[in-house]
Amino acid sequence: MAASDYGLMVCMIIAISMAFFVSADPEMLQDVCVADLASNIRVNGFVCKAKISADDFFFGGLARPGLTNNTFGATATAASVLQIPGLNTLGVSMARIDYAPCGGLNPPHTHPRATEIVFVLEGELDVGFITTDNRLFSRTIKKGENFVFPRGLIHFQINNGKVPAAVIAGFGSQLPGTQRVADALFASSPPVENIVLAKGFQIGNEVVEQIRSRLSP
Ligand SMILES: *[C@@H]1O[C@H](CO)[C@@H](O)[C@H](O)[C@H]1NC(C)=O
Repeated sequence: MAASDYGLMVCMIIAISMAFFVSADPEMLQDVCVADLASNIRVNGFVCKAKISADDFFFGGLARPGLTNNTFGATATAASVLQIPGLNTLGVSMARIDYAPCGGLNPPHTHPRATEIVFVLEGELDVGFITTDNRLFSRTIKKGENFVFPRGLIHFQINNGKVPAAVIAGFGSQLPGTQRVADALFASSPPVENIVLAKGFQIGNEVVEQIRSRLSP
């Protein structure tokens, strides 16, 4: 075998192994495995239901806008395996996010198990994500446009426009998970010690308490 052939083979082996490491949810081992959400048996995902129908693959919940009259002026409506049991083992899901005009915010958060791609249904948004070297990638996106938030990175969307905005989000996981940065740190149960937050954020105890009181349910 010529040296260049070895090089090619090594590249191919690396590419094939990469395919395993970069994929999100594990590979499926059968056509369908509709989630039995009521089962107490714990597996990686959900156990399969015996009796299934087309309805297990249907969800109508993204048809209408979600209410945005809340603290942040935004609502995410999930279409994950919890709403669509048929998504179990299939490695994808969606959500719809609605934003009130003049500042509706989907606050900084991460999806530990999925990359997200959004498609703007209505309005316009300022969006961004931050890489692990603290570099911000941000821009304005309008109706009909897409933007990608890489798996695990902190990101946000805000509607600075004068009309309501909405996106459809696609995820490379049946259950991407959502961890809001502020809630995780300041509204956990039991609470993170004040000194950790005060020192971590270089703020006083009273600021820690103030943030806690606004975020706590
Ligand atoms: C938001 O609006 C809905 C319907 O208009 C209403 O039922 C609900 O109480 C409102 N929620 C808040 C927090 O104002």
